[in-house]
Amino acid sequence: MCGIVGYLGKEDGAHVIIDGLKRLEYRGYDSWGIAASNDGKIDIHKQVGKIGGFDLKRDLPAFHGNICIGHTRWATHGGVTEKNSHPHLSCDKRIAVVHNGIVENYQELKTELEKKGHKFVSQTDTEVLAHLIEEKLKTKKELKDAVRASLKEVEGSYALGIIDREQKIMIGARLGSPLVFGLGKDGFYLGSDVPAFLEFTNKVIFLGEHEMVEVKPEGYKIINIESGQQIKSKIVKIAWSIEDAEKGGQPHFMIKEMLEQPMVVDKTVGTDPTELEKAAKLIRKAKKIYVVACGTALHAGLYGAYLLAQNNDLMVQPISAGEFPYFGHLIKKNDLVITVSQSGETADVLGAVRSAQAAGAKVLALVNVLGSSLMRLADGSILTKAGSEICVLSTKAYVSQQAMFAMLSAHLNGKPEEGKKALRAIKKDIKTILEKDNLKKIRKLAKKLSGVPNIYALGRGINYPNSLESCLKIKEVSYIHAEGFAGGDLKHGPIALIEKDVPVLVFSTNDQVQKEIISNAMEVKARGAYVIGIGPENNQVFEEYLPVSANGFYTPIASIVYSQLIAYYIALEKQLDPDKPRNLAKSVTVK
Ligand code: F6R
Repeated sequence: MCGIVGYLGKEDGAHVIIDGLKRLEYRGYDSWGIAASNDGKIDIHKQVGKIGGFDLKRDLPAFHGNICIGHTRWATHGGVTEKNSHPHLSCDKRIAVVHNGIVENYQELKTELEKKGHKFVSQTDTEVLAHLIEEKLKTKKELKDAVRASLKEVEGSYALGIIDREQKIMIGARLGSPLVFGLGKDGFYLGSDVPAFLEFTNKVIFLGEHEMVEVKPEGYKIINIESGQQIKSKIVKIAWSIEDAEKGGQPHFMIKEMLEQPMVVDKTVGTDPTELEKAAKLIRKAKKIYVVACGTALHAGLYGAYLLAQNNDLMVQPISAGEFPYFGHLIKKNDLVITVSQSGETADVLGAVRSAQAAGAKVLALVNVLGSSLMRLADGSILTKAGSEICVLSTKAYVSQQAMFAMLSAHLNGKPEEGKKALRAIKKDIKTILEKDNLKKIRKLAKKLSGVPNIYALGRGINYPNSLESCLKIKEVSYIHAEGFAGGDLKHGPIALIEKDVPVLVFSTNDQVQKEIISNAMEVKARGAYVIGIGPENNQVFEEYLPVSANGFYTPIASIVYSQLIAYYIALEKQLDPDKPRNLAKSVTVK
């Protein structure tokens, strides 16, 4: 999703912006741009495509300024063109604006502004903001007041970076899209995410909803957009190192992040029991429990639902956050919505949370980003322990979410040591899966799979979510069509897809489910499938066998690592970039 970087400080601000935009590449984008205020004018540079190879010194040696904003755009309103890329300027070129979010009433605002003589050069919703602020500056002396007056007319969501060449001010504002303000030795920073400026400072303020920051060379003010009142905000020290947010010597973030999974599980074991107890209290008090999330996080939520059913006798209804509006009216006071999100900024999840809370329900969040919108909104939250996840595909966040459900489930049963013990075994197992020889074996298998048009996966019970997640990983990164099914559903349709040599991943077990899943494997093999078994016991039906240790309900936390690796190595075989698959964005902050 779009990325924002802002800087007010020294003369070489443009470098700060270009570096920051490169660090935000993981969010996904199709064009980018930068504005720099210098010598009473604003210079702009925009490009379609990636920023990776851009070198400011070489490509734009004269470009400089001490108040700068930059943006990576993921097109929503208007095609992928330089004109539509941000920053956007007011007619008098005094104001430059970058924006993440959607101005829902931009058409009405644009028509009004055009009547007043404003000329638009792009098809974007964002450009109205630059003109609206310009219009308000006709009656408001200070930029902050013109911005506040403009935002009062805006319907939708925004994280904004605004610079003014005349008053030499930078403003950041947010509603519904994340924005972080950084306080450094050499200046002040804005970022849609901390990695944008972590190289320069780890002291940050997470702007809240309806908050803006007015930044001048001599200092800053956090202001409530609606009331205009100054707010005292907490400065948070970020513990992530910049190395944490970089590749750590690996060729891609995806493999680096998969290799971190044993550590992630280990960190989860160390979760503060008081954090778990707060969550457990919400669960114990709940009349009905729902789990709401999107994509990979939804698969983790589904795993949580199976785990809480099987290990804790709790009925938990999973709902995809995008579909939540059609069930929302059934949510009641005393119900609990458990949300799962890596970013904590997914628009559908935040929408579901707001509507559940409006109905009087409580919200518990399993979330990976400290200070995220979800964390702030939720009635209770547990911080998952994945650390910064840069690859667009979620791997270690999924494992951390499953592991956190394991801790929560054991805590609810009053047997926290059982959860810890299981996770320690899982950690060991993931370490073994990630050993060099094993990686070679998986790469060989991935080579075999890289030319096929379809891949399927089967799982039953607690392994079912992994069959969905495996196929999501494969399709996202290799563009091979892949579908996961519950073993019991096979005969109700999907078996029609099975033909000679079609690969089927089978998540098997060594418990009472084993007989049934093995008979599903037999059924697909009888129709020519190439069966790859993942589980604690080998079976003659498997053409390939990928072993995991038997850890009961917790086994899927280790077995998913095989599918992640298969997906990664297929992408490499196909010479695709696993960190930035086409059309995908890291955090989906628009509906
Ligand atoms: C897939 C993936 C997505 C996210 C989904 C939710 O690899 O990353 O499916 O899981 O967009 O995102 P969060 O967890 O940030 O709410």
